[in-house]
Amino acid sequence: MVKKTIAIVTGANSGFGKEFVKLFSKDKTISEIWAIARNEEKLQKLINEIDSNIKIFSKDLSDLNQVKEVGQLLKDKNINIKYLVNNAGFAKFCSYGDISVDESINMINLNINAVVALGLICIPYMEKGSHIINVSSQAAFFPLPYQNIYSSTKAFIRNYTRALNVELRNTGITAIAVCPGWMNTGLIDNALIGADKSVKNFYGMVSPEVVAKKALKDANDNKDISIYSLYVKFTHIMSKILPQRLIMKLWLIQQKIK
Ligand SMILES: NC(=O)c1ccc[n+]([C@@H]2O[C@H](COP(=O)([O-])OP(=O)(O)OC[C@H]3O[C@@H](n4cnc5c(N)ncnc54)[C@H](OP(=O)(O)O)[C@@H]3O)[C@@H](O)[C@H]2O)c1
Repeated sequence: MVKKTIAIVTGANSGFGKEFVKLFSKDKTISEIWAIARNEEKLQKLINEIDSNIKIFSKDLSDLNQVKEVGQLLKDKNINIKYLVNNAGFAKFCSYGDISVDESINMINLNINAVVALGLICIPYMEKGSHIINVSSQAAFFPLPYQNIYSSTKAFIRNYTRALNVELRNTGITAIAVCPGWMNTGLIDNALIGADKSVKNFYGMVSPEVVAKKALKDANDNKDISIYSLYVKFTHIMSKILPQRLIMKLWLIQQKIK
């Protein structure tokens, strides 16, 4: 029996994730796209909007048991996962005291634990030419006050992914950390909770479409990091030169946080 080649996208029903679904829908080598997120209605809309063979799965990936359920769905299937896009994520931009313990830990569960777990679950179903695309952020380049957990989760993803990529070097599978700057998606609306001390300046915002296109090209070029726009590249270089204490001061000035 011929192996089915699939792409899995988490957080597929909006923003950045939806752009990957659109790109995969145009890829003739992919026979099925697995779209994962919580909101089933929004997942259903994907099927209506995008002309492709899309299978939808409503899962809360901050719950490890539901991540493992994806593994159960793969079991005993003759499948090659060509792309896994670990994209689902959320943020709250505020002081440590403005969010609950549960929400703080949930952010770590989704932004880190689900990414690691789903990657490990999917690797056995990957082969030479397959790609793990983990969505990190420009926020991974430095510690950011008033999004301390979010930026730290993204720093984990960036380091973890690049190290994993080296470990995978003899398999023909690659792992790439995508580090977007601000993108015009729902993430920001959900992250802003009217906190006193929060992000106000979304400098260099771009559409998720252009960032996804570059990320997919970089994955196919077997790169281990994808950075879109001159501004984000500039901050990446600065993060290697300037002391972190100075960067944090500049961040507070840019965001007008006293
Ligand atoms: N927007 C930016 O400026 C920016 C910049 C850098 C990096 N990023 C990263 O890009 C990724 C995508 O975010 P986005 O900007 O596209 O925001 P978004 O439009 O809010 O999309 C987030 C996606 O994640 C899903 N999701 C949220 N919680 C989930 C959970 N517990 N289980 C499963 N799915 C969940 C959401 O669907 P449901 O609500 O239906 O579950 C949605 O599909 C995130 O990892 C984010 O950190 C964004």
